[in-house]
Amino acid sequence: MSTLQIKDLVASVETKDGRKRILKGVNLTVNSGETHAIMGPNGSGKSTLAYTLAGHPKYEVESGQVLLDGQDLLAMTPDERAKAGLFLAMQYPVEVPGVSMTNFLRTAKTEIDGKAPAIRTWTRELTDAMKRLKMDPKFATRSVNEGFSGGEKKRAEVLQLELLRPKFAVLDETDSGLDVDALRIVSEGVNRAKESTGLGILMVTHYTRILKYIKPDIVHVFADGHFVKTGGPELADELEEQGYDQFLPEGAGSESALA
Ligand SMILES: Nc1ncnc2c1ncn2[C@@H]1O[C@H](COP(=O)(O)OP(=O)(O)O)[C@@H](O)[C@H]1O
Ligand SMILES: [Mg+2]
Repeated sequence: MSTLQIKDLVASVETKDGRKRILKGVNLTVNSGETHAIMGPNGSGKSTLAYTLAGHPKYEVESGQVLLDGQDLLAMTPDERAKAGLFLAMQYPVEVPGVSMTNFLRTAKTEIDGKAPAIRTWTRELTDAMKRLKMDPKFATRSVNEGFSGGEKKRAEVLQLELLRPKFAVLDETDSGLDVDALRIVSEGVNRAKESTGLGILMVTHYTRILKYIKPDIVHVFADGHFVKTGGPELADELEEQGYDQFLPEGAGSESALA
């Protein structure tokens, strides 16, 4: 069993108007096998939290700690964090022209496991995982995310999740922009990963519709750079009805639309 602990995390980013503090004291503990849904208005810092955990160089940690089984994640480079068992599915997956999906996945798997996967089992594993995600085999030879539709990029993220078998996965709006069928396929992929590895999940989402497929144990509201409320799955329904305005500073108004 593994534990991811975020303690009083404060982080900022350099903007053209100067340095801006975005994470303002984030506290969260996630254990293996738990699914935490993180819901909150646009611009509240959810993606910043995801990037800061993964080690994006733009986000500077001012104070606080992130521990994975007691190991200091913040002292590690992004690839060391991945090797320690952290995975990020990005809200806007990056296109990498010239690097094929097969090469990328095999290289990532080799780095994470510390040894190259056996060719025959790996090829089988990759083909099967793509089939389950209803990805055309042609995607294996295409450049990473290049020219992929929004939904195809999200499937490619879940493909990585299934193959790399992390201890903790941060899924940043992996449900955004998916039609009903794609939402189901992507959710099933996440559930399979969870069943086979018992990973802990931090799922950032705007919409309760994904929570019908991926059942959260705990739902958190994230507003203005920190968690402001925590509850059970019923909290998601409450948010759907009432929106986030109640959690915003007076007069701020939410620009988010809960569907
Ligand atoms: N690289 C960046 N440069 C400038 N501002 C940023 C950057 N990243 C995030 N921000 C700002 O930080 C705030 C939080 O953004 P973000 O973490 O993307 O929110 P969310 O994912 O909750 O919608 C926003 O006001 C956004 O404009
Ligand atoms: Mg975001």
